[in-house]
Amino acid sequence: MTTRREHWGSKLGFMLATAGSAVGLGSLWRFPYAAGENGGGAFVLMYLLFTFVLGVPLFIAELVIGRSTQRSPVGAYFELSGHSKNWRLAGWFCIFSCFTILSFYNVISGWALNYTFMSLNQFFVGRSPDGIREVFDIFYASGDMNIFWHFLFMLLTVGVVWAGVRKGIEHWSKILMPILLVMLVALFAYGLTLDGFTKAFHFIFYPNVGNIKPSSILGALGMAMFTLSLGLGIVLTYGSYMKSSDDIAKTALIIQVLNVSVTLLAALVIFPIIFSFGQEPQQGVGLVFKTLPVLFSKMEGALVISTGFFVLMVFTALTSTISLMEVIVANFTEMFNWPRKKAVLAVGAASFLFGIPCALAGSGQLFGNWEAIYGKDFLMTIADLADWQLPLGGLMIAIFTGWIVDKELLKKEFSHSKARFLFWPWYNFVKWLVPISIVFILLFQQTKILDIDGLLMNSP
Ligand code: PHE
Repeated sequence: MTTRREHWGSKLGFMLATAGSAVGLGSLWRFPYAAGENGGGAFVLMYLLFTFVLGVPLFIAELVIGRSTQRSPVGAYFELSGHSKNWRLAGWFCIFSCFTILSFYNVISGWALNYTFMSLNQFFVGRSPDGIREVFDIFYASGDMNIFWHFLFMLLTVGVVWAGVRKGIEHWSKILMPILLVMLVALFAYGLTLDGFTKAFHFIFYPNVGNIKPSSILGALGMAMFTLSLGLGIVLTYGSYMKSSDDIAKTALIIQVLNVSVTLLAALVIFPIIFSFGQEPQQGVGLVFKTLPVLFSKMEGALVISTGFFVLMVFTALTSTISLMEVIVANFTEMFNWPRKKAVLAVGAASFLFGIPCALAGSGQLFGNWEAIYGKDFLMTIADLADWQLPLGGLMIAIFTGWIVDKELLKKEFSHSKARFLFWPWYNFVKWLVPISIVFILLFQQTKILDIDGLLMNSP
C-alpha cells in the first residue's frame, strides 16, 4: 500500500457513516416482515439479546482489527495471521458476502426509489388498504420495472462511492441520519393514536414462546447481524478509516443504541397499521410497502409526508449500499492496485448483473420454477442466505480475534477508551461466548436438535 489511508473528517462523521451503514432497509424493511412471519415478541426478544450479547462484542472486534491494521478484510486477515493464506480466504468470504448482499439489497432499494416517485404521484389517494396491497403485488410482478429501478439505484451508489469516503459517504450521512430519526418519531407519535397500537405493542413486546420455530433462532441471529452490518468486514473497513484517538467502545455502544431504536420505532409504526386495518403480519417482503401508504392515505399533508418518508428510506438504503460497495472497492484497490474509479465501475456493473435474477424474481421471467423447487423465490433465497453468511463471517472474526491475534495488540486499541476496564469482559466474550453461541445456533438450525415445532404439534 503506497498511499496514505484517507481518514474520517470528524468523529461525528465516522459515527454517522457507520450508523448509516447499520441503519437501513434491515430496520425498515426486513425486520418488520421477519418479526411478522416469526410470530413477533419472542423473535424480537431474541433479536435484542443477540444484538447486545453477540453483536456488540463482534462490532468492537471488527473496529479493533480494522483500525489496528488500517487494511480492508483480506489484507487485515492476512497481516494479523502472520500471512496465512487460509485466513486470507476468510477475507475473501467477506467480499463474496458483500457482493451477494449488495445485489439483492440494491433491488429492494430500487423499490424505495419507485415508491418515492409513486408518492409524488399520490398513488394511494382514494385507495383502500387492499388496493394499496394490490399495487405492490403488481409492481413485484413487473420484471422490467424492477430492473429499471435496480439500475437507477446502482447508478446512485456508484456515484457516491466514486466521490470517495469523505466527500461522499460522510457528507450525506451527516445530513440525512438525523432527519430520518425525527421523521420516524413523528410517525410513531401518529401511530400512537391508532386503535391497533395496543395490540401492536403486545405483538412486538410480549414473547410468546409457542411462536418460536427452530428457524427463527438463526433468523434472529442473522437479523441482529444484518441490521448491524456485521460479519462482512464492513465495520472493519470503516474502522480502518478511524483515527487512533477515537474511542471504540463508546462508538460501538452509541451505534447499537441508535440502530436498535430505529428498528423498534419502525416496527412500532408499521404494526399498529397492520392491526388497525385488519391486515395480517405475515405478508412477506412487501410488508412495509403495503402498510405505510395506508397510513399516509389517511393523513393530512400526505404528499409531503409520504414522499419525505420514502426519500429518507432511499437515503438510508444508500448509506448501506455504499458501505457494501466501499468494502469491495477498497479491497480491490488495495489488493490489485486498481485505480478507485475502475474498481467502482467494475463492482457496480457486476452487482447490477448479479442482481438481475433478484429483480426478476416476482415476475418469474427468469428461473420461473425456482419457487416450486426450492420453496421460495430467488430474491428470498438470496436474502435468506445472508442468515448463514453473516453468522459464519462473525464466527470467523470471533475466532480470529480471540485465538489468533496478539492479545497485547488488541489491548492497545482499548487504551484510548474511557471504558478500558471493558477490555477483559469483551475479550472473553469474543474468545468464548460468541463463537460457542454461533456454532450452537448453526448446529441447532442444521440438525434441529430440539424439534420445537414437533413438540408443539404433539402437545395436547
Ligand atoms: N445494516 C444494513 C441494514 O440494516 C444492511 C447491511 C447489511 C448493510 C450488511 C451492509 C452490510 O439495512
